[in-house]
Amino acid sequence: MTSTDLLALSAARRWDIYGPVHKGLRRAHGAMAARLGSADYAADLRPLLADLRAHLEIAGQHLAHEEDHIHAALAARAPDAVATLQDQHEHHRARFAALQAAIARVEHGAAADRPGLGRVLYLEFSAFVAEDLLHMLHEETTTWPLLCALFSDEELMTIEQAIVASLSPDETIATMRMMLPAMNPEERTGLLTGMKAGAPPQAYAAVIEHAARPTLPRAEFAELERLGLAA
Ligand SMILES: [Fe+2]
Repeated sequence: MTSTDLLALSAARRWDIYGPVHKGLRRAHGAMAARLGSADYAADLRPLLADLRAHLEIAGQHLAHEEDHIHAALAARAPDAVATLQDQHEHHRARFAALQAAIARVEHGAAADRPGLGRVLYLEFSAFVAEDLLHMLHEETTTWPLLCALFSDEELMTIEQAIVASLSPDETIATMRMMLPAMNPEERTGLLTGMKAGAPPQAYAAVIEHAARPTLPRAEFAELERLGLAA
């Protein structure tokens, strides 16, 4: 995959099944890495560790969604393409187990040991982020072009809609909190326009109040209001 090929797919406005959610994951990974780096490990760590566990749960759910919907579809048309993706996902799951162990050591460690255990947790998380950044790069530069070659935009949208439909209301809000501030204005407007047209009004209002309003800078939320998308 060359940058020219990616440019051609982007110029053709092919359905970007990975881009927006991966932007959200990258932003959330970076924010969590920064928090783990600047935390005072002698202080009350419960809010940070709860947020870290929630973040890892979303990251794990993302893998499962890709497997259940994207890999399943891909396996039917390009069986050889799934093995590498699956290996990378299994590697992530091993890293999640190591991270859960590192979290537990910070929680239960003696006070004198906690700064050192916090450093180990921070480094373990940074390793996960490094691996996931490369994995998502592989998906967007190798798997996405393959998906575009094998599936129409309508088929890719149907796969994505099946993922969206599988989310619980809480998962939808958590995912939107991650994605909306990470997207560019055009992507955000496109997503919310489609959601407003297709979702029940109460569900759309919940996304605006619990995901868009608390996470977007004031000027970007004002732009949604100007476009009639803020309610
Ligand atoms: Fe993946």
